[in-house]
Amino acid sequence: MSTEAILRLNQACIKQGDTVILDEVELLIKKGDFQYLIGSTGSGKSSLLKTLYGDLPLSSGSGHVCGINLVNLKEKQIPELRRKLGIVFQDFQLLTDRSVFDNLKFVLQATGWKSKTDIKKKIEEVLTKVNMESLSAKMPFQLSGGEQQRVSIARALLNDPELILADEPTGNLDPSTSEEIMILLEEISNSGRALLMATHDYSLILKFPHETLKCSQGKVFSTVQNTL
Ligand SMILES: Nc1ncnc2c1ncn2[C@@H]1O[C@H](COP(=O)(O)OP(=O)(O)OP(=O)(O)O)[C@@H](O)[C@H]1O
Ligand SMILES: [Mg+2]
Repeated sequence: MSTEAILRLNQACIKQGDTVILDEVELLIKKGDFQYLIGSTGSGKSSLLKTLYGDLPLSSGSGHVCGINLVNLKEKQIPELRRKLGIVFQDFQLLTDRSVFDNLKFVLQATGWKSKTDIKKKIEEVLTKVNMESLSAKMPFQLSGGEQQRVSIARALLNDPELILADEPTGNLDPSTSEEIMILLEEISNSGRALLMATHDYSLILKFPHETLKCSQGKVFSTVQNTL
């Protein structure tokens, strides 16, 4: 396994406006790593992820994600950062007015893909990865929650990201569907992509153990399994 850092934060301060949410954050994620981010409601998991995808500024400390410096990140660099990342949310965030295929096409076109043949091939490739190739003509409302989350994972894979940030990707799913999504995320991580996943679901962490970081009282701690 390569030791290449995909994501690194040093002495980072995570803020919402003027309020410090997390301080002195140290984070290192290497190629193919799978790490969990846990912590109670309001402890700062989403704020940390938002800082990593450029939705919140990194005001002090240093941070690099997929080769991009988060310090003084310019508005015009955000699309480049987002292209290098895959982001998965609890509520799927699919466009409700168009089919699965068109949801994915929209993202590819928005990120500069032009050739119809390449677009079709790429969409087939990512839908096959998540076992959704037969449902590409469906509208999101015709899909179950687990199927919608598969589509949103396919969307996250479109630009071959080195890193996927997932904010409670199983938060809206029942236990058995959550496990199916975890198996899929593990396959993706085993194919060499790094994954950072915020979750509340301790039973998943026990079933699919990985390195775990905990947000608590304004800091991020490395945690060992038996102290969760
Ligand atoms: N847009 C915002 N503006 C101001 N403060 C915010 C904003 N979003 C979150 N916060 C505050 O930041 C703190 C951390 O919230 P955050 O959403 O990062 O927590 P979380 O760990 O993701 O919680 P949850 O498990 O409920 O998703 C909380 O005190 C919250 O009230
Ligand atoms: Mg959150």
